[in-house]
Amino acid sequence: MRFVTVDRWPPPVHVDYRPELEAGNVLFFPATPFELPKDNTNFLRTLNFTGGAVHKNIAYRTASDRITGIEAGSRQATLHAIMREYSRNVIAFVKDLLPQYSSGWKLDYASFRPLEEQGRGLPLNKRNDLIHTDAFPSRPTHGDLILRVFTNIHLSKSRNWVIADPFPALAEEYARAAGLDEISAGGRFRDASARLLKSFGFPVVPRSPYDRFMLNFHEYLKRNADFQANCAKYTFDFPPGSTWLTFTDLVPHSVLSGQHALEQTFIVSRRSLANPENAPVAVLERLCGRSLASND
Ligand SMILES: [Fe+2]
Repeated sequence: MRFVTVDRWPPPVHVDYRPELEAGNVLFFPATPFELPKDNTNFLRTLNFTGGAVHKNIAYRTASDRITGIEAGSRQATLHAIMREYSRNVIAFVKDLLPQYSSGWKLDYASFRPLEEQGRGLPLNKRNDLIHTDAFPSRPTHGDLILRVFTNIHLSKSRNWVIADPFPALAEEYARAAGLDEISAGGRFRDASARLLKSFGFPVVPRSPYDRFMLNFHEYLKRNADFQANCAKYTFDFPPGSTWLTFTDLVPHSVLSGQHALEQTFIVSRRSLANPENAPVAVLERLCGRSLASND
């Protein structure tokens, strides 16, 4: 895997960066390539956020224009306006950078991560310092991919990541141990039942076999001490003022330290990939010989 540095934005000629991202690489911009007013980052850095059992971060729900993770009040209103502006600016930038993805993507949440990552004392399944691939319990992707853009807005501290070999190599080695055969064999009935319950108004999240596997895999990797200790690791310290993006379900990652990061998530349709055969769902379907997501 590689860190692909983009020094100049906008570039003199358009480059299609999709194959780099889909191969499990990280696109790195030493200077943040979209507008991020100083007053806004100053406000975010001085925000008093203690976190808690429910909220790991401050989240901005892009599609519904709502904010969570902070109590109502004047600071909430300012924070809301700042997150809305950040989200709009980063979306416009990614549209220019990856126009082929933008035609079929779903806008997911943006977040502000106000706390120092080192020594947070979170429960195992929420720990960021263990290498994992992302999967969202409340927002199944049905085979589409999770693209995340991060910006380090700390004044002086870098944000320190560790990355492992991308999903295809990991799946080859661990997917069976993480329950791929059981999940793919039992999958369709559970998915159909959940859809039926949802149609009657029950608060269930219909998940494809793919989504159930990816949730399992997230936890499996975090619990696998041998993998955590011995997998091939690539470290990178993202300096203050830099921005980077990667598919976080395709690229196993952890964050060891760092504070004050902004992030926007996109759910990218696998139909818009330059190489759809690299999508985790395609890799898993080849391994188990069954379809895992209808993606309808
Ligand atoms: Fe993650």
